Amino acid sequence: MRLDILTLFPNMMTMFFEESIIKRAQKKGLVEVVFHDLHDYSLTKYGSIDDYPYGGAAGMVMAVEPVANCIEGLQKERRYDEVIYTAPDGEMFSQPMANELSLKENLMILCGHYKGVDERIREHFITREISIGDYVLTGGELAAAVMADAVVRLLPGAIGDEQSALADSFQDGLVAPPEYTRPPEFRGWRVPDVLLSGNHAKIEQWRYDQAVERTRQRRPDLIKNISKDSHRK
Ligand code: ADE
Repeated sequence: MRLDILTLFPNMMTMFFEESIIKRAQKKGLVEVVFHDLHDYSLTKYGSIDDYPYGGAAGMVMAVEPVANCIEGLQKERRYDEVIYTAPDGEMFSQPMANELSLKENLMILCGHYKGVDERIREHFITREISIGDYVLTGGELAAAVMADAVVRLLPGAIGDEQSALADSFQDGLVAPPEYTRPPEFRGWRVPDVLLSGNHAKIEQWRYDQAVERTRQRRPDLIKNISKDSHRK
């Protein structure tokens, strides 16, 4: 996968991509992440790419021409499956969306800033507008990092045990069951006996029941999406 990120603040992002699983995925050649500093496409001698909004509202708008030049320059080099714009009024990011994006070859993410980008960019270049939640961030960089993380960890080979990505919360419409590791008892707090039983069928059933119960308690909105017994092991 190739991921091109268009941003006014590449430094805000590079640190995140140089750590942990996302770093390992790049080293293994599973993903190539390329940052593009939009200031490099400025048409002014000051390097700015924002301008006052028509109509006199407060704030600044990312101008159409430098952003278009950056996107088009990249599009001349390869075909992008999606040109994503991060915006609080976009489609809500979700696990199914991460799954879908993880199957793509080339993704571009434009990080919004200020009051956002000139609407003509959204109309003519953007194929997908994505929000990571109902709150407003100062810019799209964190949203792009969240999306990249959720997508890259799904690439085959990115995390050691591939089963563990499939067992994540939300992959089956349920939150994940509780996990324990050694010791079996700490301050009298015991690991549930079933997990120490060695009976894999029983353990699977316990995990499923716990996931359902947790989902019922914590995310009842998810429960209505799964039919009774549909995932019963
Ligand atoms: N930019 C500002 N707020 C955002 C959000 N919630 N999601 C995605 N991009 C954003």
